[in-house]
Parts: sequence; C-alpha cells; structure tokens
Amino acid sequence: MIKGKKIILGISGGIAAYKMTNVASMLYKLGADVHVIMTKNACQFITPKTFEVLTKNKVYVDTFDETPDDAVNVPHISLGQTADCFLIAPATANIIAKLAHGIADDMLTTTVLPARCPMLICPSMNGYMLENQVVQENIEILAKRGYKIIESEYGNLACGYEGKGKLPKEEILVEHILNAVEYDHDMVGKKVMISAGPTEESLDPVRILTNHSSGKMGFALARVAAKRGADVTLVTGPVNLSTPLGVERVDIVSAEDMYNEITSRAPEKDIIIMAAAIADYTPVSVADNKIKKQDGDMSIPLKRTKDVLKGLGENKKEGQFICGFSMETENMLENSKAKLVKKNADMICANNLKVPGAGYKVDTNIITIIKKDSVRELPIMSKDEAAYEILSEIIG
Ligand code: CTP
Repeated sequence: MIKGKKIILGISGGIAAYKMTNVASMLYKLGADVHVIMTKNACQFITPKTFEVLTKNKVYVDTFDETPDDAVNVPHISLGQTADCFLIAPATANIIAKLAHGIADDMLTTTVLPARCPMLICPSMNGYMLENQVVQENIEILAKRGYKIIESEYGNLACGYEGKGKLPKEEILVEHILNAVEYDHDMVGKKVMISAGPTEESLDPVRILTNHSSGKMGFALARVAAKRGADVTLVTGPVNLSTPLGVERVDIVSAEDMYNEITSRAPEKDIIIMAAAIADYTPVSVADNKIKKQDGDMSIPLKRTKDVLKGLGENKKEGQFICGFSMETENMLENSKAKLVKKNADMICANNLKVPGAGYKVDTNIITIIKKDSVRELPIMSKDEAAYEILSEIIG
C-alpha cells in the first residue's frame, strides 16, 4: 500500500524534470506523502512552487533554507531517515557522480546520505554522455551499493539526437515506486520460476488444440514475487498480458516448449510454481497442409505430452520448493491431494472451475492450499492477493 508512505523525489537539472510534476501528482493522488528536493539546476527547468502546489509539502532546494520547526527536525536528516522510498529522477551525470563518491554539497545529496529506504535512480541525459565510461562506472558503483537503477529509454532526446537517455514514462516511474513500497522485501535473493497461461498444440498449419487459461494467476504470482524482491523468470504460453516490471519473460507455444524451457532452468531455481495449463495430449503428427473436411465424423490420434511438474518433483534438488496447481471440476480435494503425492510436489494450489469467482478468465480466485500435513482454504480474493498468500505459504 502506498497510502501514507513518505516518498522523496530528488530532481536534478535535466529537461525531463518537467515530467516529475506528473509523477508527484500521481503519487499524491494515490495518497502518498510526497516530498520534493530539487537541485539549483533543476530550478532552471521547473519551479519549486509547482511541486509545492501539487504535493502540499515544502520543496527543499537549499540546505540552509530552514523554518523554525526545521531547526528541531533538521530536514536533510529527518526526511531521508523517515522516507519509505527515494527516487532520484532525472539523474544527471553530475548528481550520479556526486552520489557515487559521497559528495554532499546541496540539499539533495545531503539528504541521500542518512536515508535507509529503497533508493531508486534513473540516469537521464544525452546518449553519448550516458555511454561515457566514467558515467557507466559511477552507475555501476551505485548499483553495487543497492541502488535500483531504472534504465532510461531510447527515443528522441532534447539535444536533437536519437538514442538512450530518455526518462521513462511517468507511469513506469510510479510503478517502480509502487514496487518498492507495496510489500515487504521478504523474497530478496530467491530465484523463482513461474509457468503461466495455456499451451497450443498444432494440428495443421491453421488449427491448434488449446484451453481457456488466461495466464492471469501465473502473471499475478510473477508480479507479486518481483515486488517482494525475488528474481523472477516467467515462462508463459500465448496470453494477452503485459510483462510485470522487473520479470524475465520467456514465451513458449507448445507443451514440449514448456517442458524444455522449464526443465533446463530448473536446477538453479529455489522456488518453481507451475500455474500453466499444459496440454496433456498433443496430436501424434502435425499435418503439413490444412486438413480438408470429409464426409462423416473424424477423430484425431493424440499422444501424451511430458508432465513437467512430475519431472521437477522427480529431480527436486536439496532445498528446492515445488508448487503445482490443480484445476478440477469435481472431487477437488481428493484429486489434488493425489497430485501432490504423485508429482512429489511440496504444495498444490487447488481450485474448482465450477465455483463462481474461481478459474481462468476472472480476476478473482478461490484457492485451497494443500501441503503434506495441512489443508488451508482461502476465501475469494483478487489474484494478486491470492498470489501474496501462496508466496507467503511457500516462504513460511
Ligand atoms: N502439469 C505439467 N505438465 C503437464 C500437465 C500438467 O506440469 N503436461 C502441471 C500443471 O502446470 C499443474 C499440475 O501439473 O501445476 C496439475 O495440472 P492439472 O491439469 O490440474 O492436472 P493433471 O496432472 O494434468 O491431471 P488431470 O488433467 O487428469 O486433472
């Protein structure tokens, strides 16, 4: 939840400074307590007054610009120490160099030093400046110290060049802040792989066998795991969903693709969650040309695909946690418990497609979490909330 969170926006002197008015406004509307600190150069592009009107908070530029109350609460210490997230954007080569080397000669750089919250920085400048080795080395230093580097984008730059260095869209910056403050970062260091969506099995060049999976549950798991700090790989069948921020996405089509992509990456993962609806059967052969209709009925010979989850269970490495899903329309508990044992999984998330509010297309789910010694029924909740509960159950 961002509501009530103290967010500091540190703005240095780049033309993209004007975009930060939208960022400040969007955060304010979400209920955040937004504090803006500007460098003197940033004030060449936009005035502090604009941010004061948008955030209803005093904007700091000069370290010595204190009101009587500030003398007690010393803003350059208290702001940083009580912040929940600190975003520096646009970050010029100059501010990056100062932060990398501990120089604290203005309000912004001085406030950064006592801050103990997630630090985000978005380098934004001319592409040639950005490529310069010293700038890259300074960015590297900040990354090593735990700063989250928000990559700038390619595009037309204010200097007339086309290249990398453009500040990303305001929505993306806000999304990064939401990621940083929405959840506790209790999955940092965990390598998580999640499968999602349907698979498609070709019959001929025009036809496929597939299912109704939307991929929403798997994507919710990937999104929430990334927000909790995990290193997430999402292997997905064909879906119409955008990749959650910070998630590595691998697109696949068939059950065989899914088997190959998941199995080859599995040994290095700490947690694997199989939320994909993978075809159990695939056509024995794929026709080279369109199959023409004939009189009467037809049947298609199918062969079994490999069970990815079962393979993972059989080759589970020490300390690895394997979670499967179970989609049923009858005898949900009994069938799902059997899958837990048969596939040697650590946990199965079961849901009944016939219950309203559960299943593929909807944004809610009703999950029963089954482990070897326990069964926990979750009430109806959004897929993001269900994802949070599932991940919490896994990390304990
Ligand atoms: N699964 C898999 N490989 C397959 C089929 C399913 O890894 N070829 C995984 C799914 O991703 C899910 C779990 O196995 O995590 C259970 O899938 P589900 O379709 O509910 O069950 P099945 O094992 O396929 O059995 P049935 O279709 O008979 O219910």
